[in-house]
Amino acid sequence: MTETEFKDPEVGRKVYADDRARVFHSWSAQARIKPMAIAGARGVYVYDYDGNRYLDFSSQLVNTNIGHQHPKVVAAIQDQAARLCTIAPQNANAVRNEAAKLIVDVAPEGLEKVFFTNAGTEGVEHATRMARLHTGRIKVLSAYRSYHGGTALSVNLTGDPRRWPNDYGSAGVSHFFGPFLYRSPFHSTSEEEESERALEHLEAVISFEGPSTIAAVILETIPGTAGIMPPPPGYLGGVRELCDRHGIVYIADEVMCGFGRTGAWFAVDHWKVAPDLIAFAKGVTSGYVPLGGVIISDEIAHSFDERVYPGGLTYSGHPLACAAAVATMSAMHEEGIVENAAMVGRNVIGPGLNELAERHPSVGEVRGLGVFWALDLVVDRATKEPAAPYGGSSPAMDELVAACKERGLIPFTNFNRLHVVPPCTISESEAKEGIAILDEALKTVDAHYRGS
Ligand SMILES: Cc1ncc(COP(=O)(O)O)c(C=O)c1O
Repeated sequence: MTETEFKDPEVGRKVYADDRARVFHSWSAQARIKPMAIAGARGVYVYDYDGNRYLDFSSQLVNTNIGHQHPKVVAAIQDQAARLCTIAPQNANAVRNEAAKLIVDVAPEGLEKVFFTNAGTEGVEHATRMARLHTGRIKVLSAYRSYHGGTALSVNLTGDPRRWPNDYGSAGVSHFFGPFLYRSPFHSTSEEEESERALEHLEAVISFEGPSTIAAVILETIPGTAGIMPPPPGYLGGVRELCDRHGIVYIADEVMCGFGRTGAWFAVDHWKVAPDLIAFAKGVTSGYVPLGGVIISDEIAHSFDERVYPGGLTYSGHPLACAAAVATMSAMHEEGIVENAAMVGRNVIGPGLNELAERHPSVGEVRGLGVFWALDLVVDRATKEPAAPYGGSSPAMDELVAACKERGLIPFTNFNRLHVVPPCTISESEAKEGIAILDEALKTVDAHYRGS
């Protein structure tokens, strides 16, 4: 398929009109949005009905880790649909077993079982519920500058403005600051200092909240939507140690950063840390069929050997989703997709974005790894004033998005940041093509603040 094969402007107009008439969208003021009508997608490209091709530098919602329409995954879903579309979760099922095995095989040692959910937010909710039942404690500590999902508990765990209208203050969640050297809440001047001070802060929060009341600390290993801030050396190991010292369960939220995105199967692999529970979703099926879950440590799994785990879902371990997971993970192994993400990040995206920072005064910081990068855009490098306020947008950011789309690139932006999060399958030349578009598009932000 090419852009001409997908071209049908009349159908495109109808798709748009029907959407506006009857579809209610997530996180939006309904009258103020203009959804793109998408006709199809292949690999790293998405096509509209007007004959335009877009390089998908967003992986949609950072989930199409193996690109769009991978033929092996499409075929596996079709084959599974022909064999057995659905089966209740209380039955044993071969494709579910295989998905669990493939997941456990790449997870850190000591994580032995998988509870399947439909999405990331349910993975987070069940991980939290398991931690509470396992410890007999209620409270959960979660970081500011985080996103954990859109259902009741997950949105209360979330440390971004999406929590504000949803928080009734009754979820048993307290928030703390994670490390973020560029905008350090601790006035640190080096990664070592930031790591040490963020750990001191977390230790103080634990003492003042009462260690014996805390069931879990939940952390995105690399906060995603909140800004892609890889933790400084020593931080995650320190969190592990604090949790061990106080009998607190360490939950890693790898919904966005897991399954190859950072150039490793899980982001915790970079720091050789084993959490007690890992929440996952997105990349496990590349989004082809919704699937999420929790990878559970032996110890926590065993605490439900003789007592009932009081939670479940009609679609836990749905065969179509599990078939998509098996095919996705098999393709990732066979085609070296995780290694590709690491290589393109190291050789092209990292150096390419750092070059953009040299040319564009609006780029305050470049950070990331693998195919998981952020440009922190600023009004002024000296003050680090963000190019859009926390929780808001700005004309400069709106113009940047428009400039990317006009040039054939789908960007991912949040507040003052542009995230570079293409599929893990992107080639070096496709990554260069995207960075060249960003080079042009960023001129709009530069000009906005400097009038040039
Ligand atoms: C880190 C993280 N956790 C949880 C979620 C929620 O996942 P879902 O939207 O699949 O429920 C997301 C979604 O973006 C996420 O990025």
